Amino acid sequence: MSNTTSASLTFLERLTGRRPPVRTSSDVVVLHGVTKRYPNGRIALRDVDLVVPEGDFVFLVGPSGAGKSTLMRLLIRDELATKGHVVVDGSDLAHLRRRDVPRIRRKIGVVFQDFKLLPRKTVRENVAFALEVTGTPRAKIRPAVNRVLALVGLTAQADQLPTQLSGGEQQRTAIARALVHDPRVVIADEPTGNLDPVISWELIQLLLRINDLGVTILMATHDAEVVTALRKRVVALEDGRVIRDETGATYHQAD
Ligand SMILES: Nc1ncnc2c1ncn2[C@@H]1O[C@H](COP(=O)(O)OP(=O)(O)OP(=O)(O)O)[C@@H](O)[C@H]1O
Ligand SMILES: [Mg+2]
Repeated sequence: MSNTTSASLTFLERLTGRRPPVRTSSDVVVLHGVTKRYPNGRIALRDVDLVVPEGDFVFLVGPSGAGKSTLMRLLIRDELATKGHVVVDGSDLAHLRRRDVPRIRRKIGVVFQDFKLLPRKTVRENVAFALEVTGTPRAKIRPAVNRVLALVGLTAQADQLPTQLSGGEQQRTAIARALVHDPRVVIADEPTGNLDPVISWELIQLLLRINDLGVTILMATHDAEVVTALRKRVVALEDGRVIRDETGATYHQAD
């Protein structure tokens, strides 16, 4: 519903020739002049500009402490920017009304390195829980959960607990949970960090498939081999600044 609205807005904007720099509905994520200073004085991001159009696959790279996780925390409004604008799906997060926060959060699926699964809940229950907490009607939950479990290849493991899963299966559960809201963008902070190389590749293939389905992907990683092999867009941060933003790029640990 809201997608239709935003799509027609873009069209209207094109018709009228008005295209505000930080509010285009085909750009899923826009950072404009973003600086993040933590309360202890540490500056984690400095004047960052980043535009991620719908359907992009972006690798966020850079040394430890460069600001990758901070950037992702700003996108889910875990933290607010000190300066500049963070716009997700057309909404400036600084000006979001409290009651609109859940709606924006549902546009973003989040996957972390440590999977953050609920240990006493099965795969199915972990994924369903994401919908239950947002008040989705019961009748809608089961089909939505089945659909994402099939997508990530976990139908057979649906009734197992996290401790009964391999690391790769746990991470795929986390991805299913991130997808169950039908988000426009998935942000993944080092999702392969705890996985062996073969399983990492399977996970990357899954993210590529999700991207093919139209979901925008923003992934922070230290895995130079994966980044270089895929030749996607690479945004490199260093000391809080974007030092490189290239499509079809390679990445070497020294970058
Ligand atoms: N809550 C916080 N309070 C103060 N400083 C913080 C906080 N979180 C992060 N920082 C600092 O901000 C900088 C950026 O950290 P961030 O976690 O974004 O880096 P990163 O690129 O994700 O690193 P890594 O690759 O190790 O995950 C670092 O100097 C870090 O110490
Ligand atoms: Mg990090």
